[in-house]
Amino acid sequence: MTNRFDLPDLGLGVGLRSQHFPTILSEWPEVDWFEIISENFMDSEGYPAYVIDQIAERYPVVMHGVSLSIGSTDPLNLDYLKKLKRLAERTNARWVSDHLCWTGVAGLNTHDLLPFPLTEQSLKHTVEKVKQVQEILERPLILENPSTYLEFEDSTVEDWIFLKELAEQADCGVLLDLNNIYVCARNHGWDPVNYIHTIPGDRIVQFHLAGHEDHGTHVIDTHNNSVVDEVWELYRIAHKHAGSTATLLEWDADIPPFDELLAEVNKAKLYRDGELELSEISTSKPVVEKKGAVSTPLHRVPVGEVSHD
Ligand SMILES: [Fe+2]
Repeated sequence: MTNRFDLPDLGLGVGLRSQHFPTILSEWPEVDWFEIISENFMDSEGYPAYVIDQIAERYPVVMHGVSLSIGSTDPLNLDYLKKLKRLAERTNARWVSDHLCWTGVAGLNTHDLLPFPLTEQSLKHTVEKVKQVQEILERPLILENPSTYLEFEDSTVEDWIFLKELAEQADCGVLLDLNNIYVCARNHGWDPVNYIHTIPGDRIVQFHLAGHEDHGTHVIDTHNNSVVDEVWELYRIAHKHAGSTATLLEWDADIPPFDELLAEVNKAKLYRDGELELSEISTSKPVVEKKGAVSTPLHRVPVGEVSHD
């Protein structure tokens, strides 16, 4: 299955980080593609602009933003969107993604990917904003499922249903982060396989893989480590569900040399084809008293047909 937007499977890529600029510019390593953080290059001139121009000439580039704040009650920042569009043209970005979250209100940016209550009202609000963004950018927006550490008592729609409905109603794409699904599954007791199978395979344009910190009672999405077996297993399941899909390794702290990063992302070939053995996925919810967390089960919105291929 290919995605409905006819966006290509770019192969196995890595997130572009400044620590690797010298290696990349001198060795032009064999990597299929790069994902750039949009905000790192939107207002750049000088050396960063030179680097991105050189890289975009030689590799496919995808833009990944952290400030769209699609869930915020603020109106869209048209100046930001104008800069985003200009950078997409400059880098010939294959697509533009951001997160299903809010990052600020009243013009302030918290620089955090914050969750919001998932309700019919917030769904309608977000659908309208995604449609506006797509009209301005003149291309589909690809939205990523974030890692979360709390759930809201006011939420009436489950996270995976919200993302599915948003993608279908706004006609946007999905960047499925399998580490984020695992982190949430551990923190909230979700079924990660059900999450994957609920998202229509033809809306999945990209996968993210990353490492995390496991604190026993909770898991934090730190991007400072190798991908764990359970996340590789989710990747194998997701790959089967969505078909061959562009895959990206994120590594943002304790960043290893570029060749180690490449070796890690190249493991994807072995895991998705089942050539390496994987451990059972255990995401049982830690037995801890969570202050201020959901105390009653969520009201379940009816789920449509979920394909388990
Ligand atoms: Fe991610």
